[in-house]
Amino acid sequence: MAPILGAMALLRDIGSLVVVALALAGCSGGAEVRLEAAPAVAPTPTAALGEALAPPLAVVPEARSESAVAAEPTGVVGRDGVGDSLYAQLGNSGYDVTHYDLDIHFSPDDLDGPGTIVARATIAAETTDDLVSFNLDLSGLDVSAVSVDGRAATFDRSGSELTIVPAEPMPSATEFVTVVDYAGAPAPVSVEETSPVNGWTPSDGGVFVAGEPTGASGWFPVNDHPSDRASYTITVTAPDDLVVASNGILVSQDAHEDGTTTWRYDAAAPMASYLVTLAIDDLIFVEQGTFDGVLLRHAFARELAEAARADTERLPEVLEYYTSVFGPFPFDVYGHLVVDRPFSAALETQTLTVFGSDTVAGTGMLTNIVVHELAHQWFGDAVGLADWGDLWLNEGFATYAELLWFEHDGMFTRDQIGPLIVGNGFPLAPPGRPDPTDLFSPSIYFRGALTLHAIRLTVGDEAFFDILRGWTAAFGGATATTDDFIELAEAASGQTLRPIIEAWLYDDVMPELPPAG
Ligand code: TRP
Ligand code: ZN
Repeated sequence: MAPILGAMALLRDIGSLVVVALALAGCSGGAEVRLEAAPAVAPTPTAALGEALAPPLAVVPEARSESAVAAEPTGVVGRDGVGDSLYAQLGNSGYDVTHYDLDIHFSPDDLDGPGTIVARATIAAETTDDLVSFNLDLSGLDVSAVSVDGRAATFDRSGSELTIVPAEPMPSATEFVTVVDYAGAPAPVSVEETSPVNGWTPSDGGVFVAGEPTGASGWFPVNDHPSDRASYTITVTAPDDLVVASNGILVSQDAHEDGTTTWRYDAAAPMASYLVTLAIDDLIFVEQGTFDGVLLRHAFARELAEAARADTERLPEVLEYYTSVFGPFPFDVYGHLVVDRPFSAALETQTLTVFGSDTVAGTGMLTNIVVHELAHQWFGDAVGLADWGDLWLNEGFATYAELLWFEHDGMFTRDQIGPLIVGNGFPLAPPGRPDPTDLFSPSIYFRGALTLHAIRLTVGDEAFFDILRGWTAAFGGATATTDDFIELAEAASGQTLRPIIEAWLYDDVMPELPPAG
């Protein structure tokens, strides 16, 4: 059984009214996702090169000539990973991306396939090392040309690594623009075959993107790690009978004589690559007014629109409550993207959560998945991960946010939360040490949530909500680590919390919850 769905079944077995209420409210916020550790990647020439060089970085011998007035610039070969604690191969070293400009021409398949794209990615970045070459992540697709700062660059493909050698080495702290021309049929990217969806996915008559922790590199060249966040401009040209939805604000929509339309989206807030989404399908947009200046705008697969709209009816109420306990909504737009394909989950893609068709309830009642994904906009999206090993900062918080909402809505009291989760006694591994082959395990969600509950019972509600608001205020728009959280929680509450938090996150045996006070 899928880990998250399994956990929810166990929860339902507890048999209390509270649990029945929670179960009625919807299914899990999690997905069936299993991953393999990154080192399983075959030692391709590039990977082998990267491994041989890291760490420490190999310094390319200086090409000095006696007669040269200035020394030739020197540098290092950027590595093919950022050194993530779980997935060493994700992302790349040596630079930071500031902006991705993706220009994609999409042709659908006759059959329900992925379609094909002809695309150009323009990537603005800054070096963090003296570089003679650097890598982007790109899986499949054909690259026809690469340039750096307008000059043709040589490139090499190996597995999911695109290695680029600019015409000249680049010293550290240099801003540079890379243009990659590429084409082909995008495909999911996974380090594990059994994940429900991993990036570019055909729906019934269209395509959409949902992939965590990987997937982005199946449709654009990217530094595919959440530590390197950037703004995005996403421009898609597609046949007129299809509608394009993506992150951020729709800034233009231009119809052409050839029967295609170009849609351009601007996502200005820094965003991790796994939070980029796109749907090209028979969608309809539904606007729901604004909340505190935040535009509520949804994109629903036409067939599902009525039911999907019912799921969003109470969103303003949740926003009212969440903004009071988490702080202002971090973006200028939010909506549901409901696609016509079941995948037993939703993904908190920034400003536009993607929901699988089988998560739509259509009852007018809030499901826990709806409030879970909304909470991720603060926890996971605005405050981002620097390392996949800290995933509890996303999933523990979003799961606890579900419980907070249902408590607020009168479904149960604060002191029922502990028994609700702990009561059935199923084993929960330490969430601060995730298993890279089972990243989205129930322990990350439920013991992660209990970690927050233990803090709340220790410091009391007032200090607890100060911690939550302090967290989004201090780290919104940036990445953060577990250590950052511990330090902030101690500073905001004035209490020593490190031993309690570390026991909840790292001890093999799950601690007892403190007595409710
Ligand atoms: N982050 C998602 C959630 O809990 C779960 C998830 C992980 C997911 N990987 C995914 C959903 C891939 C869709 C696709 O809300
Ligand atoms: Zn989640």
